[in-house]
Amino acid sequence: MKLKFRWVSAGLLAVAMQSSGAATVVNDKTLTEVGDGSNWLAYGRNYSEQRYSPLEQINDQSIARLGLDWVLELPEDRMLLATPLVVDGVMYFTGSFSKTRAVNAKTGELLWEYDPESVKHAGDRLRIMWDQNKGPAFWNGKVIISTIDGRLIGLDAKTGERIWETMTIDPRRAYYITGAPKVFKGKVIIGNGGTEQEAARGYVTAYNADTGEQEWRFWVVPGNPADGFENAAMEMAAKTWTGEWWKHGGGGNTWNGITYDPEFNQVLVGTGNGSPWNRKIRSPGGGDNLFLCSIVALDADTGAYKWHYQTVPGETWDYNSNMDIVLADLKFGEQQVKALMHAPKNGFFYVLNRENGELLSAEKIGKVTWASHVDLKTGRPVEIAGSRYEDGEETVWPSPYGTHSWHAMSYNPKTGLVYIPTIEMPAVFKDSGIDLKAWESPHFRASVGVEFGTEDTAPDYGVAFLMAWDPLKHEKVWEHELPPLWNPGTMTTAGNLVFQGRADGEFAAYHTETGKKLWSTQLGLGISAPPVTYSIDGKQYVSLLVGWGGAGLISGSLAAQHGWKYKVHPRRLYTFALDSAKPIPSSPPPAYAQPVDLPDFKIDDEQASYGQALFAESCFLCHGGGVVSGGGAPDLRESPIALSRDAFREVVVNGAKFANGMPRFKDFGDREIDGLLHYIRKMARKGAANPLKKVSQAQP
Ligand code: HEC
Repeated sequence: MKLKFRWVSAGLLAVAMQSSGAATVVNDKTLTEVGDGSNWLAYGRNYSEQRYSPLEQINDQSIARLGLDWVLELPEDRMLLATPLVVDGVMYFTGSFSKTRAVNAKTGELLWEYDPESVKHAGDRLRIMWDQNKGPAFWNGKVIISTIDGRLIGLDAKTGERIWETMTIDPRRAYYITGAPKVFKGKVIIGNGGTEQEAARGYVTAYNADTGEQEWRFWVVPGNPADGFENAAMEMAAKTWTGEWWKHGGGGNTWNGITYDPEFNQVLVGTGNGSPWNRKIRSPGGGDNLFLCSIVALDADTGAYKWHYQTVPGETWDYNSNMDIVLADLKFGEQQVKALMHAPKNGFFYVLNRENGELLSAEKIGKVTWASHVDLKTGRPVEIAGSRYEDGEETVWPSPYGTHSWHAMSYNPKTGLVYIPTIEMPAVFKDSGIDLKAWESPHFRASVGVEFGTEDTAPDYGVAFLMAWDPLKHEKVWEHELPPLWNPGTMTTAGNLVFQGRADGEFAAYHTETGKKLWSTQLGLGISAPPVTYSIDGKQYVSLLVGWGGAGLISGSLAAQHGWKYKVHPRRLYTFALDSAKPIPSSPPPAYAQPVDLPDFKIDDEQASYGQALFAESCFLCHGGGVVSGGGAPDLRESPIALSRDAFREVVVNGAKFANGMPRFKDFGDREIDGLLHYIRKMARKGAANPLKKVSQAQP
């Protein structure tokens, strides 16, 4: 914590607390209730993960009066993905590298900030990590944050001082955390990511929310049977694997999608894809590979397995089930069901009875070509022959981005509709050039058992939508086409509104029933975080972090077409209210990379193709497919540093920009450096000859 905020914080905090009356204790009771809407206590507002607020001052009639109330400038931040929390007039959020701030939610004044110094803690692990965090949790006077280097940290909500810190991963392995921790019954639970960069074996761990001490851990996939199984569930799961899967970790990493269900005292865990993606390598004799791509219900007190439902048996496309699990009471025919709703990457929308995991419905919400339908009798998808790229190559819908990814959907009990950001985009799954028997798991570089990350993605390769989906009638009620590709989560209110930011920087509100766009404003930078709403002294506010980011930026031109070049556009926290009319602060116009062609540079194709493979393993996660940056890091086709072999080596090998988030690759020698430089020049020449054109067809 910076000292200069220390004395300010107590005073301002007192003011903020006073204005909203008695202090709210954030515990099981308050996290279960819908409440009066004044607070936003958890990632999905409360345990239901519905992102539904009962507030209705801002509504379909009054929304024309909505305007900017306050702005907080965030000059040091880059990617902002978090759902802010609001407790008694104070807003808490995480920014780049999990830097955490508390602000007066009425005025935007900074009360305290805490920097977990993730870059310093990361060391060489910076290579696999993204500047991403989905937000904090709040429990009993503590703000609990996760860091990309694998820690959970409990902070004093009043001062921002660290109370406890726990390392949740083995730092020798290529795991990382981007997800928000979730709290329940005095515990805090977190998973991790890493299936693309390690022989990863996924797990979730529950810690004591007051001390950080471990309470229980659940492994998602079985380890080597020779070592014995942790529990009966792992023994059962092992029967669905073949070959020596444990050498590849197996996967199942839970980087998002954990919901606590107080009515059944269970934690619902949405599990990850395989490590590696390609089942031919991971489990060569076939098999469902439990508990990949599943919802697993665990006893909240012990972490013991209760039931599971697998959305993708034998996954081989990165179709994980890490998307949010939303709880609701639904009326199925005459039956009142304690249901859960889940829209994983695989393109189907699932409704399950969460008492026992029984499948009630599963319907497509976009173009899906890997399965024709889900058989409700067996609960299994009916696959389409060829989709497992049996012959070595196949184009399949959806892509590894999913029909729906982690961008939160919301559910409005008034309309019974779910508001989902969706993507329609195929991917070519190709393993014909890979020696499947000799393939080895990566360690701190990306490699997934199919070709991945070697090419740019054309600006018109995918389309996106905001869809209102009726989970009982299984039909689309309305839909808006959105700019590609990666649009953020939604929030819905009793005021008949759905709010959502967009990739092109617009923030909009729609009528929940008709989908009519009722209000919008341009915020000058692509939006990647979901909005929240709260009230103080009878006044309703809507807040949103604006900072382009997320793994979708790896898609090269598809993301770059918006012009949100690295570090050009200001990052901000915006808050809106009725009858407020501050002008939106200005932002520079969209900016595009100007690739530099060196006509005298003779490109050696062999070196360039070596560089291409290396770039896909070690650089594209931040610098973009085909060296076209989506905005997560500089576009190397125009980098002056990439014009000088010495300067390039200083940055890439010696870590000259390490403190800014650029990892170092100490083991790279001349062959690597020259390969990368030839590939970058080749892509720059191509880019200089074909400047990027924006093709977004989104409705205005
Ligand atoms: C984890 C993300 C990440 C990965 C992986 C990564 N970079 Fe970077 N890189 C960055 C960021 C962020 C910056 C900008 C740092 C700054 O603001 O100064 C950067 C900057 C650079 C620069 C300086 C560009 C300029 O003009 O200032 C070069 C060159 C570079 N990276 C090359 C590479 C190469 C080559 C690889 C792969 C071997 C790679 N990077 C992998 C994040 C990454």
